Amino acid sequence: MPRAFPSRSRAAVRWAALLVIAASSISAMDVLVAHQINALNGTMVRISCSFTSCYRLDHTKFAMNWTYQENSNDTEEMFMTFKNKIVPLRTERFGERVKFAGNLDKNDLSITISDVQITDEGIYNCYVRNPPDRIQGHGIIQLYVVTELPPPRDSTIAVAIGASVGGMLALVILSMVVVKCVRRHKKQELISDEQKMEEEGKTDGEGGTEEGTKQL
Ligand SMILES: *[C@@H]1O[C@H](CO)[C@@H](O)[C@H](O)[C@H]1NC(C)=O
Ligand SMILES: *[C@@H]1O[C@H](CO)[C@@H](O)[C@H](O)[C@H]1NC(C)=O
Ligand SMILES: *[C@@H]1O[C@H](CO)[C@@H](O)[C@H](O)[C@H]1NC(C)=O
Repeated sequence: MPRAFPSRSRAAVRWAALLVIAASSISAMDVLVAHQINALNGTMVRISCSFTSCYRLDHTKFAMNWTYQENSNDTEEMFMTFKNKIVPLRTERFGERVKFAGNLDKNDLSITISDVQITDEGIYNCYVRNPPDRIQGHGIIQLYVVTELPPPRDSTIAVAIGASVGGMLALVILSMVVVKCVRRHKKQELISDEQKMEEEGKTDGEGGTEEGTKQL
């Protein structure tokens, strides 16, 4: 009878598979969000959105939009955008309760909603474009507003494990992004080297003919 696979290694294999999946889904431009946030009504909630990019943020080219939808079938209502700086768009729904709480220098586009209401429940979309990165980033966050906190569960160990695995995952993702960016830059250098060589070749050739004419 084959020996049973120890459950610990099975868990490790599962995590490794997850890491590979997470790592392979990374592109140069990526938006990182919590896909679901639960908030207590009346409190302030932070909706995080950050992105990775191979390029520094250029204020003249950068584009960002935050939109809200009651559900996935509804039209999106834009409540914040970027025109050389963050521009909050006053909406009836949020009034002045929405504020930008990120840091552009750190690729952080997070917002806060104060005095969060049940009617704020829905889908929050975070759109990013950071040229010359060609991919448009899109983060989707589902916000739930609860009127009562669930009773505390004893999940200290689960949280600790989750945090360490999450930290590891974040590290792996970060290193993948760095590797991708380095590769891309290398490729661009190679391309420009080839172009240079071609151009040099051309001038050499022209020089050759010039010499040839002189000799004639
Ligand atoms: C949250 O909602 C509950 C139920 O609707 C209400 O009783 C409570 O006063 C609300 N709390 C705040 C801070 O708005
Ligand atoms: C979206 O629309 C479809 C078709 O009209 C409907 O079946 C579905 O329940 C709707 N979804 C939501 C979340 O309202
Ligand atoms: C933001 O919205 C404006 C107006 O609809 C649109 O032109 C622009 O492409 C959007 N930008 C992003 C990054 O989604």
